[in-house]
Amino acid sequence: MVKPMNQDELKALVAQEAVKEVLNMVKSHPKNIPFVIGIGTGSTANLFIDALAPHRELFAGAVSSSEASAARLEKHGFVLMQANDIEFLPVYVDGADEIDPQGNMLKGGGGALTREKIIAQLAKTFICICDDTKAVKTLGAFPLPVEVIPLAYQQVSRELTALGARITLRVQKGDTQKTFMTDNAAWIIDVHGLRIDKPAELESWINQIPGVICNGIFARRKADILLMSNSLGVTHQEFKD
Ligand code: 5RP
Repeated sequence: MVKPMNQDELKALVAQEAVKEVLNMVKSHPKNIPFVIGIGTGSTANLFIDALAPHRELFAGAVSSSEASAARLEKHGFVLMQANDIEFLPVYVDGADEIDPQGNMLKGGGGALTREKIIAQLAKTFICICDDTKAVKTLGAFPLPVEVIPLAYQQVSRELTALGARITLRVQKGDTQKTFMTDNAAWIIDVHGLRIDKPAELESWINQIPGVICNGIFARRKADILLMSNSLGVTHQEFKD
């Protein structure tokens, strides 16, 4: 009989599988080109960082999508690099809040969406790691994060509300009187009640609203590989354009 795993166990399982996948990539990587890895943000990414730590010597450096992940990587002894120092990453590994059957993702639950998009864009391969609670047919049940320049908050909110959605301004965990601040000193509007049938179109449409820095739809740069855990193990899926 299969013993059901809780979500933390499922996250740990997929994180370990991602380490195996990345170590295989390192093996086939040209020896004369330093291997710098891109790493995301969140509880699954944290478990991936912890599981990768014993192999840190194999990596010339790591670029991360948040101050929190950077601190964790540094604590484990990884050499930290900045996106500005990098032209190309063989791989970026990150979690997701939702992923659809085409590999489109909704991300930003941890507030790191903009840097996640920047680093994902540098990567040849985006490996999404998550447990099967994140699989959806259509994106949108999870509130869509939109990072905004604070002075444009009201204006952007009006545009998003006109989509028929309900919006909330993200507050700090543990102190709801304080607005959540991203690593880019910006705010996050969470957009509730969207049904995202055309993710790439909505991603572009929201991005053109003045004051929007970035939104959490990852359809223009979606996942290339999905590692997804359930109580039976980890499935491996590749997405083609
Ligand atoms: C952070 C993210 C995370 O990848 C996403 O929120 C999933 O997090 P977790 O692994 O904790 O479930 O996009 O901005």
